[in-house]
Amino acid sequence: MSREPTAKIILEGKEYTYPVIVGTENERAIDIRKMRGETGHITYDDGYGNTGSCLSDITYIDGEQGILRHRGYAIEDLAEKSTFLCLAYLIIYGELPTRSQLEAFRNKVGGAAGLHEDFRHHFQGFPQKAHPMAVLSSMLNSLGCYYPEMSSNNREQDLEHFDESAALLISKVRTIAAATYRMSRGLPFNFPRKDLRYVQNFLHLMFTEPYDEYETPAAVTEALDLFLMLHADHEQNCSTSTVRMVASGGANLFASVSAGVSALWGPLHGGANTAVIKMLEDIHASGDDGSRFIQAAKDGKARLMGFGHRVYKNYDPRAKILGQAAERVLDALGLQDPLLDIARHLEQAALKDAYFIERKLYPNVDFYSGIVLKAIGIPVNMFTVMFAIGRMPGWIANWKEVAEGSKRIYRPRQIYTGPAQRPYAEPRGK
Ligand code: ACO
Repeated sequence: MSREPTAKIILEGKEYTYPVIVGTENERAIDIRKMRGETGHITYDDGYGNTGSCLSDITYIDGEQGILRHRGYAIEDLAEKSTFLCLAYLIIYGELPTRSQLEAFRNKVGGAAGLHEDFRHHFQGFPQKAHPMAVLSSMLNSLGCYYPEMSSNNREQDLEHFDESAALLISKVRTIAAATYRMSRGLPFNFPRKDLRYVQNFLHLMFTEPYDEYETPAAVTEALDLFLMLHADHEQNCSTSTVRMVASGGANLFASVSAGVSALWGPLHGGANTAVIKMLEDIHASGDDGSRFIQAAKDGKARLMGFGHRVYKNYDPRAKILGQAAERVLDALGLQDPLLDIARHLEQAALKDAYFIERKLYPNVDFYSGIVLKAIGIPVNMFTVMFAIGRMPGWIANWKEVAEGSKRIYRPRQIYTGPAQRPYAEPRGK
């Protein structure tokens, strides 16, 4: 980061000068940290679209050009050459691991897959129809209770145990997710296997039956690994900013990622992958090829889920990669999904339509991710949970950045628009 002179603001006839800071990729920001003290003014930025809430070394996005890089590496390269655990290491520790570092990380993650037996009681405490995101958020916070030395809310101590707690969360989020699925179907829980790699182990935890060991087709492992990689981090999105917000108050990693899961759940964020499949199914059931739905979206009567993004005003590079992966996995498994045809038609129609062009609305990561997940047998109500498993490294890396860095609690201001002061009146009338 460098500093450049300067931005001038004139308020009520008086001129104030603020430094301009410049990021690695030439992103420029006016540093207004002293503004309120000097001028008595704050800035107003509903939804934070123009606000840099932090400095971060983890992920770079250029939304105009459709660029996504983690620690300097292009997402296209990572998607082609890396694996989820290797990318998780890069995101969390800043450098690609050596072979021995990767092996050690794999072993650490692999060795942490089991859950304390008492966890069964937590699962039993939920109604069978509980939404898996509600269960996941609660379980991740509960997990911290089993490791008080890692969840002390004493930053130095929590950081001392960081390597352990990071590996543990990456591992156990997958075990909890699979157990939630099994619980919702009334199926017995599976124990993790030491001989299986990350993704295969997850699929085993999900789908092995006592009488039928699940054998993972290579196409499924590849598609799921890719899905997880493409969700691993995405700078200051709603859930990651939530994790940072919670972390800034000094909360431990478990509590912070648990809050991240809740933030991710919403349909405008991680819940969009579920909403996309519902939309495609509704379109299919109504006999529409997507044209009527596009018109409804233009008339403001519907929202084309999986389209549009706060940052990308171009194609989300992850959507391109997942669109191709959807075709590959359906081909490899010999499946045909009419929803893919509808998605393709919607995409082509929207990309040519003035409404979407003017608003720079392009497919985002969620547009094709549901089709990939559906093809590999993940039930729809688990889609956002899959996103959470993928996003765990990003949340962990962002927690670490906050815990190691700034000591300031995140605390935005507001502009109060409620009633001015008025005298208290005793309740009156009936
Ligand atoms: N379908 C139709 N119109 C849309 C869509 C859409 N998906 N997205 C935005 N618009 C329109 C809005 O109606 C608005 O039109 P107007 O200017 O005529 O009022 C204009 O485009 C700008 O929209 P905003 O909502 O202001 O854009 P914002 O940056 O706040 O929202 C968001 C981004 C939430 C992602 C939005 O595009 C959306 O709701 N998309 C669908 C949900 C989705 O796919 N979410 C996943 C995002 S990626 C992720 O979190 C992993």
